[in-house]
Amino acid sequence: DLAQIGVTGLAVMGRNLARNLARNGYAVAVHNRSYERTRRLVDEFGHEGTFVPSELMADFVASLARPRAVIIMVKAGAPTDAVIDELVPLLEEGDMIVDAGNAHFADTRRREQKLREHGLHFVGTGVSGGEEGALLGPSIMPGGSPESYRTLGPMFEKIAAKVDGTPCCTHIGPDGAGHFVKMVHNGIEYADMQLIAEAYDLLRAGLGATPAEIADIFRTWNTGDLESFLIEITADVLGHTDSVTGKAFVDIVLDQAEQKGTGRWTVQSALDLGVPITGIAEATFARSLSGHADQRAAAREAFGTDRAQIEVKDRDQFVEDVRRALYASKIVAYAQGFDHIQAGSEEFGWSIDRGSLATIWRGGCIIRARFLDRIREAYDENPDLKSLMVAPYFAAGVNDGVPSWRRVVAAAAETGIPVPAFSSSLSYFDGLRAERLPASLIQGLRDNFGAHTYRRTDRDGTFHVEWAGDKQEHQA
Ligand code: 6PG
Repeated sequence: DLAQIGVTGLAVMGRNLARNLARNGYAVAVHNRSYERTRRLVDEFGHEGTFVPSELMADFVASLARPRAVIIMVKAGAPTDAVIDELVPLLEEGDMIVDAGNAHFADTRRREQKLREHGLHFVGTGVSGGEEGALLGPSIMPGGSPESYRTLGPMFEKIAAKVDGTPCCTHIGPDGAGHFVKMVHNGIEYADMQLIAEAYDLLRAGLGATPAEIADIFRTWNTGDLESFLIEITADVLGHTDSVTGKAFVDIVLDQAEQKGTGRWTVQSALDLGVPITGIAEATFARSLSGHADQRAAAREAFGTDRAQIEVKDRDQFVEDVRRALYASKIVAYAQGFDHIQAGSEEFGWSIDRGSLATIWRGGCIIRARFLDRIREAYDENPDLKSLMVAPYFAAGVNDGVPSWRRVVAAAAETGIPVPAFSSSLSYFDGLRAERLPASLIQGLRDNFGAHTYRRTDRDGTFHVEWAGDKQEHQA
């Protein structure tokens, strides 16, 4: 019997996706560059469903029912192109290649266009949820043609996470749309994690609390507005004791955060599209800063590491201030991420529905959170929302948090605790709502040194002042 879908690339994510499909009753063709992995999968998990193993790519393709659907789960970049090049001559018109890795959306656009010329569907698909998600139900973000979704959609919706019976999978839009939203998902993930880390740093410095005590605070937070997977696992990580030293785990981990690139891509794309995703950018740069060990050593040497103690008069109030500041900053990060998605959607003609996107991020993915339900509601109510921040529910959350937000950022500045994401989010909020921005001065300076012209508040047109001459204004 022919398999209904195939997976090539059987490292942990590919293997778990294949098992998820098999457990859901699909006959799954499996292939890996080295056969050993394929054999191990069938040996260990063959009892979970129907696997059709092949050693050679040609046999793998031949084992698939038409139109063929092949999921490739290999490293982004050159390895993905290599697998595509190997597959294309073996496939026939109408067949589908699904790239479920973390590819750059521009690569996906390029590949989709090229494969379309061969009559093949290339379906760049974001998959989130780590290894456990891949096995038990990820959030799935397929791009590519609507036609390919007619075949793939039912399978993907079946293996995806479910929230209130709704699958965490929907067709995002054509060509690179799926990988684009997965990229922004990861950017938001970076921001979320940075905000959590800043909250932890503040609590530790402010309360002198142990990581285990702070774990309890996060556990409590996870019962309210902040309820989310990342808050939940923060409590687990902070509560963990190192088995070698008996110390708090978080104290024995080297404080240099790594990154594989999706956060950086998000920031690069936002710069191209002109979207101020300050929270994601600060989170990405904070990781970079942490990694510059030599520079950090030189700065410690030059400036010392002293910092003042935050004076906490009311412990509960302080914890609540940090919670509210975290929540308000988180709203900013998501608002910026959804702005970015809207800008990408307009630029590339994707017609992405942000409400549906919020729906499929409610479960399965790393940024799953209670408040994604609210994001969906906000876009359901008003699909043209100018900013998530101004939706009534979120505006209230921000407003409630403002005094706390200011106290926390001020305390951090006064005592010397770095809070790049908290503080830039607050500045973003103040910038957005300002009556007048000093951008007018920037325009004046640009006109002064480069005759770049400016517009007026009281008249249409563009103008220029003869700065070096009679200082008269001319219509440009
Ligand atoms: C997910 C994650 C996943 C990625 C991590 C690591 O949605 O399941 O985003 O795709 O492995 O985010 O990314 P960094 O190594 O860049 O932190």
